[in-house]
Amino acid sequence: MSDKQTLNDLAVFGGPVAFEEVRHVGAPNVGDRARLLERINAALDRRWLTNDGPYVQEFEKRIAELCGVRHCVATSNATIALEITVRALDIQGEVIIPSMTFIATAHALQWQGITPVFCDVDAESFTLDADRIEELVTPRTSAIIGVHLWGRSCRIDKLTDLAQRRNLKIVFDAAHAFGCSWNGEMIGGFGDAEVFSFHATKFLNSFEGGAVVTNNDELAAKLRVMRNFGFAGYDNVVSVGTNGKMSEVSAAMGLTGLESLDEFIAVNSRNYRQYREELSDVDGVTLLEYDDAEKQNYQYVVLLVDDQITRATRDQLMDLLWAENVRARRYFYPGCHRMQPYDSLYPQPAGRLRVTERLVQQVLLVPTGTTISSQDISTICRIIRFAVSHGAEINRLMSAEVGTHAG
Ligand SMILES: Cc1ncc(COP(=O)(O)O)c(C=O)c1O
Repeated sequence: MSDKQTLNDLAVFGGPVAFEEVRHVGAPNVGDRARLLERINAALDRRWLTNDGPYVQEFEKRIAELCGVRHCVATSNATIALEITVRALDIQGEVIIPSMTFIATAHALQWQGITPVFCDVDAESFTLDADRIEELVTPRTSAIIGVHLWGRSCRIDKLTDLAQRRNLKIVFDAAHAFGCSWNGEMIGGFGDAEVFSFHATKFLNSFEGGAVVTNNDELAAKLRVMRNFGFAGYDNVVSVGTNGKMSEVSAAMGLTGLESLDEFIAVNSRNYRQYREELSDVDGVTLLEYDDAEKQNYQYVVLLVDDQITRATRDQLMDLLWAENVRARRYFYPGCHRMQPYDSLYPQPAGRLRVTERLVQQVLLVPTGTTISSQDISTICRIIRFAVSHGAEINRLMSAEVGTHAG
């Protein structure tokens, strides 16, 4: 790629694109392909493709061991894992969640007639602000769902204390946080249950997949029945259930990924450090830091763009990167509370989600993972640096146009 010397070198203004092939946030990690195909062949030979097969059982055992929890119940995705967890815990009425999360956290509740009550995040961890929860608790509140956003854990101690004090259930949406720790203990064993996602965009993936992890024996038994239509044995349906089973092919992918886990972490960590280094002198662009004292999966490289300083807005920077074939993302713009049906059903009083409202205007995720090279990162950082150094002019020129991509 030729470097950007003038504004006309930017693809958004007609210059050559930096990348012929699109660079994505969350391009899937694939482990040893030969090993994966071997496993898939063995599953085909066994003619055991789903319904609690040997790979699913092995995958569950490995996940439970890695997290130091008694039970792992693998599912077809994390959304259904959240849904059955909520149902198995008899959560009803209202549940307090952050608005700063992927929409599935809210949908898993609303889908079954439970009201998600959106709470702000604190300005440091960007996870549920424990000090703002109390004012949202009503007689209908039955639970709190904290989200370990981008793998950075919630204030688990504060949230757990509060839940105990107010007699609420507490679940953690740990979709981003497999392989991470809090206070030296692996995420997975906290609260009543935690939920992982193994979706293709996640650090460890099983194509589609999820899991509930818990130390509660009774809950785990209930979840196993619920994810399988309520069957407790042949011809014996004991409760309402759904189809939330993980397939053998998915478990084969998950098991194969687990064998490369250390490599995935090493690559992510290296990428994160390179972005941090190369963007350190770009005023107005702050890279969200991970606490290296904890175990981290470093799956998300999150930039916060302060447009008072960069002058070019976060959205302009995003559009400009998209034009270069860099699909930078605004996870999770505009916040669940601004999406439907929540915006119409539960309009938020001004100021209640102050930190969230600011954050969703600033966040920009950039590509990382095993498909992104060190050279790619340097190129992306150079584009960002160049754009910010011409921020005011870019703002003027791009304000005159309609944005190229809405995200
Ligand atoms: C915070 C959060 N919760 C839940 C989910 C849902 O996961 P899945 O796609 O496995 O259903 C996601 C997925 O991206 C997520 O980011």
